[in-house]
Amino acid sequence: MGILKALGAATCLLSIFPIEAAALTTSAPLTYGIVLFRMFDVLDVHGPTEVLQVLSASFKTDIVYIAETMEPVTTRPTLAAMNPLNSSVYPLLPPTHTLATAPELDVLIIPGGPGWRDPALNATLDYIRATAPKVKHVITICTGAALAARAGIMDGRKATTNKSSWPNAVLAGPNTTWIPSARWVEDNSSEPPVWSSSGVTAGIDLMLHWVEEKYNKENATNIAKFMEHVRIRDPAYDPFARNETVST
Ligand SMILES: *[C@@H]1O[C@H](CO)[C@@H](O)[C@H](O)[C@H]1NC(C)=O
Ligand SMILES: *[C@@H]1O[C@H](CO)[C@@H](O)[C@H](O)[C@H]1NC(C)=O
Ligand SMILES: *[C@@H]1O[C@H](CO)[C@@H](O)[C@H](O)[C@H]1NC(C)=O
Ligand SMILES: *[C@@H]1O[C@H](CO)[C@@H](O)[C@H](O)[C@H]1NC(C)=O
Ligand SMILES: *[C@@H]1O[C@H](CO)[C@@H](O)[C@H](O)[C@H]1NC(C)=O
Ligand SMILES: *[C@@H]1O[C@H](CO)[C@@H](O)[C@H](O)[C@H]1NC(C)=O
Ligand SMILES: *[C@@H]1O[C@H](CO)[C@@H](O)[C@H](O)[C@H]1NC(C)=O
Repeated sequence: MGILKALGAATCLLSIFPIEAAALTTSAPLTYGIVLFRMFDVLDVHGPTEVLQVLSASFKTDIVYIAETMEPVTTRPTLAAMNPLNSSVYPLLPPTHTLATAPELDVLIIPGGPGWRDPALNATLDYIRATAPKVKHVITICTGAALAARAGIMDGRKATTNKSSWPNAVLAGPNTTWIPSARWVEDNSSEPPVWSSSGVTAGIDLMLHWVEEKYNKENATNIAKFMEHVRIRDPAYDPFARNETVST
């Protein structure tokens, strides 16, 4: 892969919001913002979207898709070498907002995908760095945790990420305590809380747990049933765990 690792400036951010304001009240409608960038992982975005779509029948829910420009964002690799057979399997997702026009969010969702390493994501990293302290909650899916680390918002946090790209991903967060065996990790140590999932499908388990915690258990159970998804409910159970015992 010819894409260079580029680390964003890692500034430790303090919440500008008082703790009380950060507590989620799920009786109110929530706005979720999902950040899009070239070569995002399809399911990292659509898995959480699916869960929230089903939830929206019971609770008013809005999702905005935020990218650098209003151009549809593709999962297609930037380099031909990453698509050696020149296959056409890459959907486009049109953003609803640019980084500049995005509304205030309650929950910032940062998906992963091979594009997290793109050195040209400065504007997106700036957006994540500026937005995270203003939201009630940050959720990262898969290597989205590494993108968040590049933005400097994972310092001093506990997190997990895609087990297949572990060695590269953890390098993005030298001051993050990376948990090598976890389906997901909840870091509530400061505001906003940052919850991170392991690879791809783990994002669905994290979101179902989110629904259980922030809305109610019945909804989480019914959404999983509707999706015919066999949940992993224990965040510590990780069939794809790395063997590292000491975090990087
Ligand atoms: C990690 O933390 C140390 C000590 O606080 C700091 O000097 C260093 O700049 C941090 N590194 C990054 C990449 O944030
Ligand atoms: C790759 O496939 C597209 C159609 O999907 C085609 O337009 C393009 O010319 C192909 N590129 C190469 C290098 O074969
Ligand atoms: C997970 O890591 C593997 C190995 O590096 C990589 O091929 C895959 O694209 C990663 N998945 C995502 C969604 O980033
Ligand atoms: C993006 O950020 C990196 C790291 O801070 C910097 O080296 C690079 O010059 C920036 N690129 C642009 C186009 O501003
Ligand atoms: C994080 O906070 C939520 C409440 O928002 C709580 O239900 C959960 O147990 C906490 N997780 C951990 C690991 O402390
Ligand atoms: C979700 O919870 C609400 C409030 O308790 C309830 O009215 C609704 O029927 C539930 N929906 C599902 C699909 O479980
Ligand atoms: C972890 O160790 C076990 C036993 O040695 C091995 O079978 C497995 O492949 C290792 N997993 C990884 C991700 O290295």
